[in-house]
Amino acid sequence: MSIPYQIKSLEQYHEVYKQSIENPEKFWGDIASNFRWKKPFDQVLDWNFAEPKIEWFKGGQLNITENCLDRWAETQSDTPALIWESNDVQEANRVLTYQELLTQVCQFAQVLKNKGIQKGDRICIYMPMVPELAIAILACARIGAIHSVVFGGFSAQSIADRINDASCKLVITADGGYRGNKEIPLKNVMDEALVQCDSVQKVIVLARNNMPISMLKGRDSWWHEEVHQVIEQGITFFEAVAMDAEDPLFILYTSGSTGKPKGVVHSSAGYMVYTNYTFINVFQYQAGDIHFCTADIGWITGHSYIVYGPLSAGATSLMFEGIPTWPDAGRFWDIVDKYKVNILYTAPTAIRSLMSFGTEILRDKDLSSLKVLGTVGEPINEEAWHWYHTNIGKEKCPIVDTWWQTETGGILISNLAGITPQIPSYATLPMPGIQPILVQENGQVIEGSDASLATLPSEIVSGNLAIKFPWPSMIRTTYGDHERCRTTYFSMYKNLYFTGDGCLRDTEGNYRITGRVDDVLNVSGHRIGTAELENAINSHTGVIESAIVGYPHEIKGQGIYAYIIYHGEGIDKKNAAQDIQATVTRLIGAIAKPDKIQFVSGLPKTRSGKIMRRILRKIAEGDTENLGDISTLLDPSVVEEIVQNVE
Ligand code: WTA
Repeated sequence: MSIPYQIKSLEQYHEVYKQSIENPEKFWGDIASNFRWKKPFDQVLDWNFAEPKIEWFKGGQLNITENCLDRWAETQSDTPALIWESNDVQEANRVLTYQELLTQVCQFAQVLKNKGIQKGDRICIYMPMVPELAIAILACARIGAIHSVVFGGFSAQSIADRINDASCKLVITADGGYRGNKEIPLKNVMDEALVQCDSVQKVIVLARNNMPISMLKGRDSWWHEEVHQVIEQGITFFEAVAMDAEDPLFILYTSGSTGKPKGVVHSSAGYMVYTNYTFINVFQYQAGDIHFCTADIGWITGHSYIVYGPLSAGATSLMFEGIPTWPDAGRFWDIVDKYKVNILYTAPTAIRSLMSFGTEILRDKDLSSLKVLGTVGEPINEEAWHWYHTNIGKEKCPIVDTWWQTETGGILISNLAGITPQIPSYATLPMPGIQPILVQENGQVIEGSDASLATLPSEIVSGNLAIKFPWPSMIRTTYGDHERCRTTYFSMYKNLYFTGDGCLRDTEGNYRITGRVDDVLNVSGHRIGTAELENAINSHTGVIESAIVGYPHEIKGQGIYAYIIYHGEGIDKKNAAQDIQATVTRLIGAIAKPDKIQFVSGLPKTRSGKIMRRILRKIAEGDTENLGDISTLLDPSVVEEIVQNVE
């Protein structure tokens, strides 16, 4: 059987999956032949997980933007590539056809060239969700510069850390942005960051909300003036720079279990092939579909399934600047009706939040254009799944529960919409080419449904999720520190990529992700490392020590619970808590603010000084009856005190 690009039946899925595992090189070689290469590759895969070395499509040269733009501008130039919906309901929307997007990307690539940018230079992008953000990203890719997008909610300190880690030469930002009824002072925050960043030579500023900002002579310039100059010169095209398959395409920072965020590096060819393949198969994309991914481009979901996946498929990608609850909780549904959205891809946290507003708001919404629904970012609870299925999908739209990570580049485990079975709260089956494996703490592989290892009834097995064979869009390195990549992902279990997630598997081979097993929280689908957050809190003058744990939160999935030892007797708790929140907002961003703060006089520690988070987690969950053995603690009495003072 020759391999179909889009899988059309369950039998076909099983057949394709089998072939992809038996002969991965043939499989991915065939898939990759569907793209535009400047020079064909000579070797599909070269790898070992020990270093790790992961090289796909070696010898090949390409530019991802030719695959996302040129080939569609040639064949369907008037198809909308991007549709943009403003935060403000009154503001006109914007539609950019493939030809228009190509031209604007080329013009901005010329701007970058005029600023002295060359292949391999790093560029930090800190922008609101406007079409220019996608244009900036694609222009970087066009010229071969490596983009590092920083989410607009991160603080000056977080930006500075990211810029310095990658020695970015240029920054692209905006005066400010809108989110609901708030205005976000992006340029001011960026200016505060740049005080610490010597590598940055130029800053390009998009005028979005006209808030007062300072423009530094010689360093800062306006986006529209730069582009105007290029247009004046009559430039409408910029030849895409030839990239080696393994040349880095972008860096995206993500939190881990140690203090400092890691710069996850993705490659040019593998990332393109895999995001395209998964976009087309998971969502069962059909030509003409309007795809609405509600993520922010500051996260991996936006990179892969607003920009690169959909555009490389010639799809129409809808980009929304605002938030789901403004001006009211019907905003997503209004957008679906306004643009006749066919595929809606969002996060469980958004579903739960919208659920809490009830179904009255849905009464005058049509939603009949919807064909496929998706979720990503965290486990979806059954209640939210059913609400989504019934009220939004009207029981006719399959829901794809897509499991993946910043490091995986694209979706690894998910049902294929309407093709493979959906099971509420299960991500279900691996994508072709993906070989998941469950392992015990000690590395022992958990086979099939071996009941002797099962910790749960009905032969469901549980373990840590790892992947045993490379796939094209996997992480290549952590920027500037390859050893960190090795120790974080490839040293826990020999010859396996370790995901950091816990997972169940049923007898049919369906996977259900249960959440992180490392010290990383998943708050509203955003990863927050507890060590990073503790460092931020501990830097506040009043704080002696702190410990962060997660607890179940109705909307956010996980909430942040902070136990804090604070200087001095009789502190004003309210003030102290506010100061701590302000410190976290300044050092990381408002997304990392604790939901609960409890001041304590001591933390439960082992005799070797290790904080017993297990106990703190139980207390935060309200499960104080089952704290387990606390006799090994240095001072068991602190536990009693903490339990008594829970607020
Ligand atoms: C979690 C987001 C359950 C998981 C694309 C993973 C999920 C982390 C799912 C990655 C899902 C993501 N079901 N959990 N469908 N999708 N996760 O890097 O813990 O922001 O490790 O990538 O989110 O988060 P990241």
